[in-house]
Amino acid sequence: MNILITGAGRGIGLACVKQLAANANYNVVAVSRNIGAIEGLALPNVHAIAADITHAENVDALVNTITNRYGKIDVLVNNAGLLVNRPFTDFTNDDARRIFEVNFFAPARLVQVLTPHINRGGHIVNIGSMGGYQGSQKFAGLAYYSASKAALAVLTECLAEELKDAGIRINCLALGSVQTEMLQEAFPGYQSPTGVEEMAHFITDFALHSGKLFNGKVLPVSVTTP
Ligand SMILES: NC(=O)c1ccc[n+]([C@@H]2O[C@H](COP(=O)([O-])OP(=O)(O)OC[C@H]3O[C@@H](n4cnc5c(N)ncnc54)[C@H](OP(=O)(O)O)[C@@H]3O)[C@@H](O)[C@H]2O)c1
Repeated sequence: MNILITGAGRGIGLACVKQLAANANYNVVAVSRNIGAIEGLALPNVHAIAADITHAENVDALVNTITNRYGKIDVLVNNAGLLVNRPFTDFTNDDARRIFEVNFFAPARLVQVLTPHINRGGHIVNIGSMGGYQGSQKFAGLAYYSASKAALAVLTECLAEELKDAGIRINCLALGSVQTEMLQEAFPGYQSPTGVEEMAHFITDFALHSGKLFNGKVLPVSVTTP
């Protein structure tokens, strides 16, 4: 089985890579701009690729590299994310766009380019956020982040229809807080009850097995807000 995960350089993504790679039957392609931590794992079935996925040409090159080496992909986890916590009126256009580039356009582009190279029965998991889950509690400073994740959630619902004939399932996990660097930057001093390893365990298990049961769903995975 061939698995591609973005945002694999740290946090939840890196923990997912470690857990997936424990199965020698899985080839794990791990993408991040900084791949030192992935390479440091020195795992034989993990292929680290350094790429900024906000550039469309990088996504195209990435898909070329992957398909040349592995042929088709079975599981894609769109995990890369960017959170900027700032009052809405202080955002520059560039900063607002950057959030949408990482959280929305990059995963959308990756699905678009990779779809012809995903096996029937394949599963795409978009990592969303409770902030982007309709009706959830909202937090000042996270407007662009939450809106970008909401866009990703609706994209997931739409693509489930578009990818139906190709036999590919797609779902979005709206995560609650997880104790990572991203969370510490957004909510300094806040301690999440959810650890990285346990969330990574849920995500990897869901990505590997739940495509048979869910399609086009946006699922909250949270015990608290934030
Ligand atoms: N932690 C939480 O409480 C929480 C809650 C809800 C949702 N989430 C979501 O869960 C996912 C993982 O979050 P995390 O807490 O593990 O965050 P994190 O520690 O900040 O990790 C984010 C990852 O995304 C990568 N990334 C960012 N911009 C990129 C780009 N332009 N191109 C390629 N890779 C890029 C980063 O690596 P490089 O810098 O090396 O590129 C990093 O590996 C994100 O989508 C996040 O929004 C997290």
